[in-house]
Amino acid sequence: MGVLEWLRSRSPQAAKCIMVAGGAVILFGFMFYTDEVHMSQTPFRLGSYVPDDDAESNMVSPRQDQSRRKALLEEYCQKNSSSDMSPRRMGNFFVSDRYKVLYCKVARTGSTTTSALLYNLEFGTNFTQQEYLEHQGGTPILKRLTSYTKDEQMLRLKTYKKLLVVRNPLERLVSAYLFFFGGKDYFVGKTRHVLYNQHYQDMLETIDWKIPHTEDYGVIQTTNEKYHVIPFLAFIRAVTEDTGRWENEHWALMSNYCPPCQINFDFIAHTETLAEDLNIFFLNAGVIGRENVFPPVKTAIGKEKMWDFYRRIQIEDAQRIGRKYEPDFDMFGYSLEESYSLPDYAYFDIVKIFEDFCNF
Ligand SMILES: *[C@@H]1O[C@H](CO)[C@@H](O)[C@H](O)[C@H]1NC(C)=O
Ligand SMILES: *[C@@H]1O[C@H](CO)[C@@H](O)[C@H](O)[C@H]1NC(C)=O
Repeated sequence: MGVLEWLRSRSPQAAKCIMVAGGAVILFGFMFYTDEVHMSQTPFRLGSYVPDDDAESNMVSPRQDQSRRKALLEEYCQKNSSSDMSPRRMGNFFVSDRYKVLYCKVARTGSTTTSALLYNLEFGTNFTQQEYLEHQGGTPILKRLTSYTKDEQMLRLKTYKKLLVVRNPLERLVSAYLFFFGGKDYFVGKTRHVLYNQHYQDMLETIDWKIPHTEDYGVIQTTNEKYHVIPFLAFIRAVTEDTGRWENEHWALMSNYCPPCQINFDFIAHTETLAEDLNIFFLNAGVIGRENVFPPVKTAIGKEKMWDFYRRIQIEDAQRIGRKYEPDFDMFGYSLEESYSLPDYAYFDIVKIFEDFCNF
């Protein structure tokens, strides 16, 4: 009788546990091995900032994080000569006169959550996010800074609490891709997906796509034309182009859309800790008794889902993201290399398997 069989007859649970543990060790070893090979083949050019410890660690509260986030930004801005902010950026700020707050709204960072909250606070409503979206276009509306006179704008910029929400650029790109293009496994054929895939068909040039292609992502058939769903790789290559040919506010640099070296933001929230950050910011701005409209804590985009996309692209393409979005990585304390070297979802999967089988 083999050891395992003997064990199984005595304790099926222990036998299972040992088999799973063995499998996990092999799997983990393999991942580690492939990761090592992967990383050593292509030495990474890092962004200039390497956080001394994990910026997103659960051990650090968002409040403690603020001083670190702002110190990093200050350091970055000191090194970079900054010109005056272009007047057209003023339109990116939304105003709450009630709480003296300015919010610079960056797409794909949880901006609907933040806007809905700001709206509810400003107008004393209790809209859910869905209700808020449906209500847009109704009255009243959140005002943009540009709807004030020059003097009023300056006064608000000087005296109001200014909020910026930022997100890991890698996550933000996946979020934008899924939202506008759908993608291979997630394509649902909303009108938005049709329009974006149609409008950005020429992104296919970046991957030298010969039509018809064997690995077709799917085709959108409108009444008289066919469009291909833009693959993630084509999207990544297009948005990291230097010519600006495929520029769009939804994947524009956050640091360009809301320039933090020109605007002295009082608070840098991260999408990864959005609920906690917004809570702290608005309590600080004097909001009391409106707990019911604050967003619940939730994980934005699954790490695993995100890596489904980056797993499939070459390191060279990831490096293009690193170059193009370097200011966003550096100013806000994100790191391409760190994101790439920590596939923590895999680690947690294994821990979960252990837990499921071994009850520890
Ligand atoms: C800003 O500073 C970083 C280093 O922190 C540097 O790599 C970058 O080239 C600078 N950019 C400009 C426009 O000065
Ligand atoms: C919003 O909800 C709060 C708490 O449930 C309630 O006290 C308040 O009257 C509501 N406001 C409106 C406008 O419905």
